[in-house]
Amino acid sequence: MNTTSKKSRLLPKIALTVVVALIFLSIGLGALHKTPWQVPAEEKARKNPLSANAANYNAAKPIYDEYCSNCHGDAGKGDGSDAMMYDPAPSDLTDAAHMNKLTDGEIYYQITQGRKPMPSFRTKLTEEQRWQLVILVRTFSGALAFPPAPPKTPQPPQSTPPVPPATH
Ligand code: HEC
Repeated sequence: MNTTSKKSRLLPKIALTVVVALIFLSIGLGALHKTPWQVPAEEKARKNPLSANAANYNAAKPIYDEYCSNCHGDAGKGDGSDAMMYDPAPSDLTDAAHMNKLTDGEIYYQITQGRKPMPSFRTKLTEEQRWQLVILVRTFSGALAFPPAPPKTPQPPQSTPPVPPATH
């Protein structure tokens, strides 16, 4: 019958379309690659026990330079010297649209757990060091600044006289 022969010609076509679609889909996913991190709700809700101050920022800086900058780059752009070796590429920590959506607990969890190719820092760094890094990571996206960013509105001039240079 005519219908069966039509069907038998149609089936391979459908199969081919599905295969082609799957190939494109996997290429697309491969390029995007970055699936959202699955962070447990109680981890997300954790607050940074440290205050966001210059002392904690300064403590984090050498840790970042030693353990993170080779991948994430000096300013967190994801352009460290080793970045090109990794797939997916190291995250751009200056991406405010993404980073400012994350809670402190989430960033702490990411640093603690890692996700291939990013290593876990659970045993390499202390809890305190990882929370200090959360503060530093926040500076890359502009959410924090040390010293604090100057206020946008102009301030009235200071009335205190300039301090004379110290004589030794
Ligand atoms: C070997 C390279 C490498 C090192 C070293 C590394 N990272 Fe990563 N990091 C990555 C990669 C790759 C990703 C993206 C992983 C993903 O999305 O699956 C990532 C993701 C992140 C994220 C998640 C941001 C997002 O996309 O939501 C944070 C935060 C982060 N890294 C901070 C750090 C800190 C802090 C250190 C140092 C203690 C560090 N990383 C060390 C490669 C690295």
